[in-house]
Amino acid sequence: MRIPIIAGNWKMNKTIKEGVELVNKIKDITNDTDVEVAVCVPYISLNEIKKTIGDSNLKLGAQNMHWEDNGAYTGEVSPPMLKEIGINYVIIGHSERRQYYNETDETVNKKIKSALKYGINPIVCVGETLEQRETGKAKEVVKKQIENAFDDISSDNMKKIVIAYEPIWAIGTGKTASSEEANDMISYVREIIKGKYGEEISEEVRLQYGGSVKPNNVTEIMNQTDIDGALVGGASLKAEDFIELVKF
Ligand code: 13P
Repeated sequence: MRIPIIAGNWKMNKTIKEGVELVNKIKDITNDTDVEVAVCVPYISLNEIKKTIGDSNLKLGAQNMHWEDNGAYTGEVSPPMLKEIGINYVIIGHSERRQYYNETDETVNKKIKSALKYGINPIVCVGETLEQRETGKAKEVVKKQIENAFDDISSDNMKKIVIAYEPIWAIGTGKTASSEEANDMISYVREIIKGKYGEEISEEVRLQYGGSVKPNNVTEIMNQTDIDGALVGGASLKAEDFIELVKF
């Protein structure tokens, strides 16, 4: 049985104070649900939000990290720094990082390996552009992203990874992939994992959908056969909306 996972990706939103306020409003939802709930927050808020989470079951994630332990990488944050805070997840390969900060399949692979080495579970994002979808290349693109991202990742480690399928054209646009389209791609992702790691692992790995998930479409998305969760941007920034998502 795969435990559903709803994760908020706050992106570059919320000051430390605002983030603490939001977490204080949402953290108790974890007492009344079997869903795993996480918030992935800006680096500077991680420590304070970890304290705010306290004993609740809310999980904490970062939105990126470097793959090296330390060194001359001005402005970067390393896995040991994140481990010390005690985070559970790190988003790796978000399309915004691929688009604006030169994230490549190769750096995604390095970051996944490094996160796993430090006991931080990666949420690895894949997804195609509108042009790639319209020219019939979506599956080919996602397959290549997956093959490259998980190059040289062991089966044991694969189980710890969450994959988020986020079609780029559905992010922040209000356009969602239809739940069938989303499920079709996510089933395909599971097939790829099965081909590489076998059935048992493929049935264990949790696969999320991301892209304009809102209270009014979450139920339909979560009712799909292969979708185990959602990675949520905009709707994770308002406590009422996020709580509704968790109650899908
Ligand atoms: P929105 O939910 O705002 O479309 O963002 C999705 C996303 O990019 C989550 O990582």
